[in-house]
Amino acid sequence: MNILPELKSRFRVVLSGLVEDPTELLSMIRPAQDATFGDYQANVAMPLGKTLGKPPREIAAEIVGQLDLSDICEPAEIAGPGFINLRLKDTWLVERLNHAIADERLGVTTASELRTYVVDYSSPNVAKPMHVGHIRSTVIGDSLCRTLRFLGHRVISDNHLGDWGTQFGMIIYGYKHFVDQKAYQTASVPELSRLYKLVNQLVEYHNARTKLPTLERELAAQTEAVTALRNQAPAGDKAAVKKTNKEISKLEDKVAEARENLVAAQATLSAVESDAKLCELANQHANIATDVLEETAKLHRGDPENRRLWDEFLPKCREEIQKLYDRIDIKFDFEYGESFYHDRLAGVVEEFEKHGLAKESDGAICVFMDGFDAPMIIRKKDGAFLYATTDLATIQFRMQEWKPDAILYVVDHRQGEHFDKFFAAAKLCGYPNVELRHISFGTVLGDDGKPFKTRSGDTVGLEALLDEAVQRAYTVVSQNDDAKPHGPELAEAERRHVADAVGLGAIKYADLSHNRTSDYVFSYDKMLALTGNTATYLQYSYARVNGIFTKGEVNIEKLRAGGESIQINEPAERALALELLRFSDGLADVVEDYRPNQLTSYLFQLTKVFFSFYEQCPVLKAEEERTRNSRLLLCDLTARTISQGLNLLGINVVERM
Ligand code: ARG
Repeated sequence: MNILPELKSRFRVVLSGLVEDPTELLSMIRPAQDATFGDYQANVAMPLGKTLGKPPREIAAEIVGQLDLSDICEPAEIAGPGFINLRLKDTWLVERLNHAIADERLGVTTASELRTYVVDYSSPNVAKPMHVGHIRSTVIGDSLCRTLRFLGHRVISDNHLGDWGTQFGMIIYGYKHFVDQKAYQTASVPELSRLYKLVNQLVEYHNARTKLPTLERELAAQTEAVTALRNQAPAGDKAAVKKTNKEISKLEDKVAEARENLVAAQATLSAVESDAKLCELANQHANIATDVLEETAKLHRGDPENRRLWDEFLPKCREEIQKLYDRIDIKFDFEYGESFYHDRLAGVVEEFEKHGLAKESDGAICVFMDGFDAPMIIRKKDGAFLYATTDLATIQFRMQEWKPDAILYVVDHRQGEHFDKFFAAAKLCGYPNVELRHISFGTVLGDDGKPFKTRSGDTVGLEALLDEAVQRAYTVVSQNDDAKPHGPELAEAERRHVADAVGLGAIKYADLSHNRTSDYVFSYDKMLALTGNTATYLQYSYARVNGIFTKGEVNIEKLRAGGESIQINEPAERALALELLRFSDGLADVVEDYRPNQLTSYLFQLTKVFFSFYEQCPVLKAEEERTRNSRLLLCDLTARTISQGLNLLGINVVERM
């Protein structure tokens, strides 16, 4: 039995007699902020007072009178303007804990309504090496899959690999013009990455050259607009001055943005121009942007040479990515990349046209939808299909194949507009009931508050990032071990093993513990700290609990199976008991808006409550055997909850560190 859903279902019975749909009111039943007011608080009487036109306290009394909670709670109390305060009965807590201890699932029941989810995550473009930007989609998606599965849902994870787009046109072009055969024979993937980077750089160079005059004009125009506004700034009237100042500062932001764009373009240009060889290549390949598109188009048209190259490159690229997935323990049920849908794209466009959902505009086939300024293009003038067309084909396939209740797309926030349009189009083509969600997330930033880059300005490769985290974790683990009062305990191999779990865990946890919609600053020092909201702290706490059992020579499995009951006497014991039973609430919070940081917050809170228990209540030295055993079982359930919780985040624990 999960606490919060149980309380809500009891309230639902009573509230249904007062309003038509109590769902919104039920969200006002929450854990109490302050333990002196009880364990849970229901703030439903105040809004009800407004709707029913009665004093909230009266309504609260009425609700309490009808509420049947006597098996779970002490008699409810009404406080202040009409808060209903609930305190769980100690006998009930004990009963639930005893159950949790004996339960593999730690007392967490499966969801009451089981659904089928398709989770589309990671989905990198495979022709380029994975970089720091890929970490978020990968770990958030993985954690959501694990959590939903744990709650009993049917989850299908699908890696929508970008294996068919322009990047392949780039490496095909690069291979045809710039390949170093010797390098390709010895290590193909690094050579393909080099080709990708080179071609991309040349394409960007020519783009920047074309754009430069416009960017210069834009900056001049914005600067002029600010100057003009400054000159005509009114004096005297305070409100008017304030308004103008606001406008000036808005324009100044635009100037700054225009300047940044110009500076970026200039940097792109000078990177090539300062290098004689690159400069020569750029001149020799003046039409590279169109030529790359043509190579892509040829691949899509079935050109044998390009198809052969694609068949040769793709397995190599995928293998490289697979190595990374294996290292961070990421598995997919399916990896239907974009190429899988190629043959279906023409059919999708036809279908949209047949049903009058798409029409021609300037030679392109477009879906016009209410609420959007621009249509969604599904076939370009030159006949090429788009990212959106593939997403439409993909949803058709997924609906036929798996009949999901929900599809989650774990993709960077910059694709927000794409998903808004695509979801609207998907509803049009006959999937009105499936829940379609863009699980959007922010950017990983460097110390300077800008997207995380290496010192030379490159994006940070994922592999190097993991290596460094593990390397630094090794230092943290070794220092901690060396400082132990009775000398170090870990042999070299164990240190390495622990460093791996700690380093990879730190990266994942740092990402998951931030609200996914915000940006966050990447910091090895912060993520590897032994105190605070980090995986390292939780892993360390788990190992500490194990240390208690080792020190006391406790056979914890035996004790767990022994059927002994928990005792709740001290407030710190009660606080820990309650926090342990809230695990299921934490998981429900994750699923509510698909936010893994709800679970990290829960685990961090649990660990803090545990240490305050551990400070106040002697465990091995408890006076009575019964108390000692009860406390050992509380320690054990804490460790198991941390371990299970970290597992749902894709993070491993270690027995000692
Ligand atoms: N490959 C895309 C990118 O790297 C992400 C794909 C996300 N999934 C989807 N169904 N559109 O931007």
